[in-house]
Amino acid sequence: MFQIIILLLWLTTTESVAEYPVAKPGCQATCGNIDIPYPFGIGPNCTFADSFAVTCKDSLKPFINSINLKLEVLQISIENGTVQFNNPVTTSNCLSGLNGREVNLTGTPFSFSATYNRFAATGCNNFALMEGEEDIITGCISNCGGSSPSGACQTTIPPSLRYINATVDNFKPDSSHSADRCRNAFMVDYQWFSNIDISAARDLKYVPAVLDWGYNGTCNENARFCGANAHCSNNYTFNGSQCYCNRGYEGNPYLPSGCKDIDECSDPFLNMCRPSFSCSNVPGGFNCTCPDGSLSVGPYIYCLELPNNGNSRTKVIIAGTCSGLGVLLLLICSWLLMSNGAFASGKQSCPDVEYATDDLLTGPWEAAFSSIGSFYSSSVYPASVA
Ligand SMILES: *[C@@H]1O[C@H](CO)[C@@H](O)[C@H](O)[C@H]1NC(C)=O
Ligand SMILES: *[C@@H]1O[C@H](CO)[C@@H](O)[C@H](O)[C@H]1NC(C)=O
Ligand SMILES: *[C@@H]1O[C@H](CO)[C@@H](O)[C@H](O)[C@H]1NC(C)=O
Ligand SMILES: *[C@@H]1O[C@H](CO)[C@@H](O)[C@H](O)[C@H]1NC(C)=O
Ligand SMILES: *[C@@H]1O[C@H](CO)[C@@H](O)[C@H](O)[C@H]1NC(C)=O
Ligand SMILES: *[C@@H]1O[C@H](CO)[C@@H](O)[C@H](O)[C@H]1NC(C)=O
Ligand SMILES: *[C@@H]1O[C@H](CO)[C@@H](O)[C@H](O)[C@H]1NC(C)=O
Ligand SMILES: *[C@@H]1O[C@H](CO)[C@@H](O)[C@H](O)[C@H]1NC(C)=O
Repeated sequence: MFQIIILLLWLTTTESVAEYPVAKPGCQATCGNIDIPYPFGIGPNCTFADSFAVTCKDSLKPFINSINLKLEVLQISIENGTVQFNNPVTTSNCLSGLNGREVNLTGTPFSFSATYNRFAATGCNNFALMEGEEDIITGCISNCGGSSPSGACQTTIPPSLRYINATVDNFKPDSSHSADRCRNAFMVDYQWFSNIDISAARDLKYVPAVLDWGYNGTCNENARFCGANAHCSNNYTFNGSQCYCNRGYEGNPYLPSGCKDIDECSDPFLNMCRPSFSCSNVPGGFNCTCPDGSLSVGPYIYCLELPNNGNSRTKVIIAGTCSGLGVLLLLICSWLLMSNGAFASGKQSCPDVEYATDDLLTGPWEAAFSSIGSFYSSSVYPASVA
């Protein structure tokens, strides 16, 4: 009656991520210094599906096999459902590189992230286009001079994009400076792009970009995708589904038992037990209970230490009354205590139980409150509790 589980509000904790298993038991969890969390994996029986298979080249660099360009993985995020990878740059007139870079993600559980990517270009008089399977999707023009001596432009991309062919061209004859002639276009992680020196980006062969990943179907189509204590969520932006640990759990929601219970009691910011309560961790939440020999006044307001002299029937009925009235009671009791010193004097004895409850139902409110007030006042004297 007095105990319920309070589920904590969704809280993300970043420091605990590394403590939880990332890979299936017996599978390689890292390549170089990059975590390879399940459903990704290295080797047979270590992935959810072949499309998540990773090759660890020279024990140093992870590559996703299912993508036609064998993209190098820089980071896999479970919480954001993203993979950061090295995206080849499309170039024109540069010392090296290739114009017309195609990435085809059709039939894979990946798509270009509209949240994290921009289509960008660098160079002078540069006309950069991103073509889809049938149409031009987007493009931008980078010009040199004035406030932008190195020339750069960027534009957002549409969601659920699975095929691109990036090209660059000049829209004016090249200037006489050969250094100005190298032009680039690329899909890029906008957070990375906003922090780099554009002139230095000119000779890069690869830039980081981000793919969304998940199951390439709805939750109904695959009940096996998420592990225990996790739930599946359809994402129509991504056109697939992703897994999340249930409230009160954290870890890898894709492993069969990857979501681990959070011990809310070990962190005062994660539980709401008031000072007089003791906290016990339960699966998916926590339990605030009053220590032995005390009872809860109202749900989770205060643990009342029971005086030893009352009989047990008294205790139960008073506690029941107090629980029922909850916050209102506490406010009234506090008010009575403050406005009338007699209640705090401890002179009044514990009320007769039948009388008190009868009064609550039928009698004058004042009498009822004064009875409760006296009980409350006795509780604020720990000395009277032997
Ligand atoms: C993969 O799992 C299957 C069935 O669970 C098993 O028969 C097979 O031997 C495993 N392969 C490897 C390489 O462990
Ligand atoms: C997840 O996304 C947030 C918001 O963009 C970002 O701050 C965080 O670094 C990302 N986490 C990972 C592991 O990529
Ligand atoms: C990419 O676009 C360029 C320029 O339009 C074109 O020449 C090339 O054939 C395209 N590549 C593919 C694979 O379609
Ligand atoms: C992209 O890949 C899919 C599946 O592999 C294929 O059917 C499609 O023709 C490819 N698109 C292009 C433009 O190459
Ligand atoms: C989903 O992925 C699997 C393999 O990973 C592929 O066989 C299937 O065609 C994909 N489905 C769609 C709708 O792209
Ligand atoms: C769907 O995925 C996109 C891109 O990964 C993300 O920005 C968005 O928050 C997701 N929406 C839901 C409802 O999960
Ligand atoms: C989403 O996937 C379904 C098949 O799973 C496909 O028919 C549909 O065209 C896709 N939608 C988008 C926007 O990619
Ligand atoms: C909460 O704690 C109380 C007292 O220890 C116990 O009786 C109750 O069963 C606990 N609730 C749960 C859900 O564990």
